[in-house]
Amino acid sequence: MERLQKVISNSGIASRRKAEELILAGKVKVNGQIIRTLCTKVSNKDCIEVENTIISQEPKEYYLLNKPRGIVTTTKDEKNRKTVVDLINTTTRIYPVGRLDYDTTGLIILTNDGNFANILMHPKYEIEKVYIAKLKGIIKGEQINKLKSGIEIEEGVVVNAKRVKLKKTDAKTNTSIVQITITEGKNHQIKKMFKAVGFEVIKLKREKIAFFDLKDLQSGEFRKLTPKEISKVYNLEK
Ligand code: URA
Repeated sequence: MERLQKVISNSGIASRRKAEELILAGKVKVNGQIIRTLCTKVSNKDCIEVENTIISQEPKEYYLLNKPRGIVTTTKDEKNRKTVVDLINTTTRIYPVGRLDYDTTGLIILTNDGNFANILMHPKYEIEKVYIAKLKGIIKGEQINKLKSGIEIEEGVVVNAKRVKLKKTDAKTNTSIVQITITEGKNHQIKKMFKAVGFEVIKLKREKIAFFDLKDLQSGEFRKLTPKEISKVYNLEK
């Protein structure tokens, strides 16, 4: 048995405080009865409705996937392309935490735990995401400095890289390999950042999110997160 407000916030539809407000406002029903007290405990056999919508009490699942190219990071695709969820062997309704482009590879986390997903995505936690980008052209120190000091990727949207490391340049193929760390997660952010300093990204891979990396996972492979990793993410919130 768990407190009603905890079960509501675990389902990902509201924070604990918002769940309490919803209960006090008479917007929550348990087995058809409006509940207005914060001391109510429920089990997973109880039917909980918030604003007339039944919430899911499925057990929480957490996965880390090494996403291949040519896969979309949504739960369903209107063009019927394969999604990251199709690669995970589960019947639970999990979803990806954030996005990777169709042609981007690497680390993506999937879960049905909304609070967990929110910690990894919310800008206030400044979770680091590390990418390896292959660029067309040879990047210079001056352009790297611009990426670090701040650049406009769209009108009025200025972002910066927390770290940028030039790994390799190849004059023969006219390419550069750069490791770049960001804490925001705007749409196509890395590609737009390099475009803003004059480079096209030919290949992009996410290597890390927070303390998670791709160790031992081949492209297309996934694993479950450990209980220790899950609580480590919850501790980032404190
Ligand atoms: N930035 C991008 O441009 N694409 C991604 O897939 C992820 C970050």
